[in-house]
Amino acid sequence: MSQFSSSDFDGQQYDNFRPVYVESFYKYLLDYHFKTSHEQESESIVLDVGCGPGTAVFQMEHFFHNQFSKIIGTDPSPPMIDTASAKLKGKENNRNLDTKTDITFKTSSCMELSEKLDVKVDMITVAEAAHWFLPFKDFLKEAKKVLKPNGTLAIWGYIDPCFVEYPGLDDFLLSLDYGKDYFGEYWEQPGRSILRNLLSDQKIETSDGFHDIEVRKFTAADYRLKQNLDFPLIIKKKITIAQFKGYVGTWSAVNKRNSVLHDSKEVIDRFFAELFRKAPDLGWNTEVTVLWKAVYKLARSSV
Ligand SMILES: C[S@@+](CC[C@H](N)C(=O)[O-])C[C@H]1O[C@@H](n2cnc3c(N)ncnc32)[C@H](O)[C@@H]1O
Repeated sequence: MSQFSSSDFDGQQYDNFRPVYVESFYKYLLDYHFKTSHEQESESIVLDVGCGPGTAVFQMEHFFHNQFSKIIGTDPSPPMIDTASAKLKGKENNRNLDTKTDITFKTSSCMELSEKLDVKVDMITVAEAAHWFLPFKDFLKEAKKVLKPNGTLAIWGYIDPCFVEYPGLDDFLLSLDYGKDYFGEYWEQPGRSILRNLLSDQKIETSDGFHDIEVRKFTAADYRLKQNLDFPLIIKKKITIAQFKGYVGTWSAVNKRNSVLHDSKEVIDRFFAELFRKAPDLGWNTEVTVLWKAVYKLARSSV
């Protein structure tokens, strides 16, 4: 189980500072899903596995309300499910009746979906979580059990932020993740390396019972060289350095180091002091374009 399940993990901070996913990607998902015909059933369901605080669930309510009647979010982390459920409750009165979808959150690992769910689903989404699903092939077997025939499996992730306008800071930013003096030793492995490799090891093959498999990746170099720009999941955010610091605070490695050495705040402060020395034109309120490298994998469950 990941550090996100630790009782002192702050699901609210995660929700405040993590990037959300672009509308164009959700449209891309719908196009992919409806490229083949699906039996008309009264209930059409999306299951978001590793839903965290409901990041993709609430977005999908907004973008998918005409196509799907129900969204289920599952996550093994009680703090994440509590944050997602509180958000749902808080929104209950403000949710637009026209776009309101039946949403439920459940505590569940990706390996017990068929046990925990009593329905078959049309689409499974996995946002920024598949690197924890080990062995990955066991997750694919679970996904097959709960997906309807021709159902879509959509997996995506992002990692290693850079400041687009400051290529000279790329290595220094990476040192915050991976440097020994910062958080390098506190990522859970092999999950972190799997994500850093853009899920290359999390293979979906026809022998797993899927077809129409599509895999694409995008890097900061692509963005800076203006290539591969039709990639539908470019994850970038114009934020202040203060907000970037808030995002760093959501890293599981920051939580992990703090649980061992109780010094993550000082370590982060030291990093930003050094950042301001290296780039004196930056201050807490300066806006930078933060871009993450990203990957997505789409596949259709074979009959
Ligand atoms: C980085 S968060 C992503 C949350 C959200 N999907 C998003 O897009 O922001 C990764 C999530 O994967 C969950 N996770 C870790 N191991 C898992 C497992 N075995 N099965 C399902 N989810 C898992 C964690 O609890 C955490 O909420």
